[in-house]
Amino acid sequence: MIIRNVQVTDLAKLLSLEEQVFGDCALNAVSMRQQIDLFSEIFFVAEKGAEIAGFVIGGVSVGKSYGWILDLVVRSEYRREGIAAELTEKCIKTLRRFCKSKILLTVEPDNSARILYNKLGFKDVELDPTYFGVNSPRLIMELNIENGV
Ligand SMILES: CC(C)(COP(=O)(O)OP(=O)(O)OC[C@H]1O[C@@H](n2cnc3c(N)ncnc32)[C@H](O)[C@@H]1OP(=O)(O)O)[C@@H](O)C(=O)NCCC(=O)NCCS
Repeated sequence: MIIRNVQVTDLAKLLSLEEQVFGDCALNAVSMRQQIDLFSEIFFVAEKGAEIAGFVIGGVSVGKSYGWILDLVVRSEYRREGIAAELTEKCIKTLRRFCKSKILLTVEPDNSARILYNKLGFKDVELDPTYFGVNSPRLIMELNIENGV
């Protein structure tokens, strides 16, 4: 497996995996293409042969000192092999070049991805019951990166 920066030519494969995992809540082609254009330096793909096994999209809040893990997906047949951890660690390492205080993410409160984020050092900050609108709660989590923590 290799981890590399995203390329525009990945778009169709990314969309297919995103839709397979998130269904109606998946990023659409417009959003995914915009994420590639904005964040290719902090958008990483795990590649196994010709297949995309997973990806992570980082982001930055412009004019602020913090970054984001915006999306994280691993293909179901490759889960529990450490791919998400490796992708996220790579993204965090690169985000440190652009952000000096903290890295944020949001997650569904009952998503087991929380265990992964806890392992990587993220702490629960706030449960926002309407983060994505009515009946769309998200737990906001934060990794402090001040002083190289
Ligand atoms: C969440 C997700 C990205 C994890 O990918 P992964 O490659 O399987 O994760 P890793 O193998 O790197 O997991 C590292 C550790 O996190 C924890 N973890 C990951 N998935 C877990 C699960 N389903 N249940 C419990 N712990 C889990 C474990 O501690 C794991 O270490 P271990 O396998 O040695 O016990 C993957 O399950 C996925 O794509 N889910 C659907 C999309 C999603 O919910 N994304 C997150 C949106 S916020």
